[in-house]
Amino acid sequence: MNYFEYRNDQLYAEDVPIADLAARISTPFYVYSARTLRRHFRVFDEAFAGTDHLICYAMKALSSLSILKLFASLGSGFDIVSVGELMRCLRVGADPGKIVFSGVGKTDEEIAAALEAGILMINVESRPELHRISEVAGKMKRRAPVSLRVNPDLDPGTHPHISTGHRDSKFGVPLSQVDEYYAEARDLRNLEIVGLSTHIGSQISELAPFTEAGEKVAAIVGRLRTAGITLKCLDLGGGLAIPYQEAMPPPSEYAAALLKPLAGLGLKIITEPGRVIVGNAGILVTRVLYNKETDVKRFIVVDGAMNDLIRPVLYEAYHNIIPVDRRKLGRPVTADVVGPVCESGDFFARDREMPEPKSGDLLAIMSAGAYGFVMSSNYNSRPRAPEILVDGADTHVIRERESFEDLVRGEHVVTLKSA
Ligand code: LLP
Repeated sequence: MNYFEYRNDQLYAEDVPIADLAARISTPFYVYSARTLRRHFRVFDEAFAGTDHLICYAMKALSSLSILKLFASLGSGFDIVSVGELMRCLRVGADPGKIVFSGVGKTDEEIAAALEAGILMINVESRPELHRISEVAGKMKRRAPVSLRVNPDLDPGTHPHISTGHRDSKFGVPLSQVDEYYAEARDLRNLEIVGLSTHIGSQISELAPFTEAGEKVAAIVGRLRTAGITLKCLDLGGGLAIPYQEAMPPPSEYAAALLKPLAGLGLKIITEPGRVIVGNAGILVTRVLYNKETDVKRFIVVDGAMNDLIRPVLYEAYHNIIPVDRRKLGRPVTADVVGPVCESGDFFARDREMPEPKSGDLLAIMSAGAYGFVMSSNYNSRPRAPEILVDGADTHVIRERESFEDLVRGEHVVTLKSA
């Protein structure tokens, strides 16, 4: 459920008409609903009520400072994957004691920065990384809090690009080696074993894989206990799907499926939700430039493009596209909604049935809060879009549109010796 809705056939973000925003801010732009963000966080949190738990919002999904500040104020921790994300957290005053650091390729600098900040734990993904963290911590005369990220070897049934829990993925420590890794970690003086983590993929619509991952994790915890290795927390990653098109299981059912095999272990449960918190809390607003008809196809050319939202071409993702004003709808047509970028992959929808918009009309691309702005780029020298946060009747520009100067910042125009 979200707070983008029609009132008198005009699309609103909470109490703000999208058309009013577009009268002040040129398109394309992102709009987020603070009320939706708070609600999604609360519903997810309540799903784990009664269990000692910590939500570490996977900020890769949407990492604008104001959004992070909002989540920090709700008590959220953060799942980070780079020193850049760490700096963002620190910039908004997030509690480092609630930060977990994931990812297969952490550099020495990133490890040192995480230890310096005093984060909750580093999720380790390989044997060399385990040793590297120990070395870096040794040089800093610290003990590094670590958890091992286990690859549970299962099929979460999602798009291959966002599936991480199968054995041929680059993520996690193989199940067959995890016990040795823990034994090795225990013998490294500069490491403190804190937990165990896993993350099986994203946009996962079935609950069985979460239960299966939990079962595999629970078995490891049992073996480690026998070996005298005790953990404090289990980090079960993120991955719950959102309803881009079809209904998806609610967080309460997800939590029940996840926790079922873990009941009685007495460990703190960490989750790293990203999409489910922010996905349906954001939209991308774009304006129709042209209606184009070829012999075989109809195209609606809009001013937003794949550089603003790359999900449709990258993951064959479906995003609902709706008119901002539906008082006078055009005739039903089947069209591709495409942007100005010079690639055939630059589309938001293909063969979509929709009321034909006119040039100048506004369209809202829904469910664009997660992996939308954060994956945007300057391809075709297009400035990245502004971001607007709506809270009731208040609107806040939380990021301005990039300028041409932003686009060329850091570039040096050199004069070469020969032409
Ligand atoms: N934890 C880890 C270690 C992750 O790698 C991810 C996502 C998450 C948590 C959050 O997963 P979520 O709850 O958002 O499903 N760009 C793709 C999604 C990439 C997901 C990467 N990892 C997309 O647009 O679908």
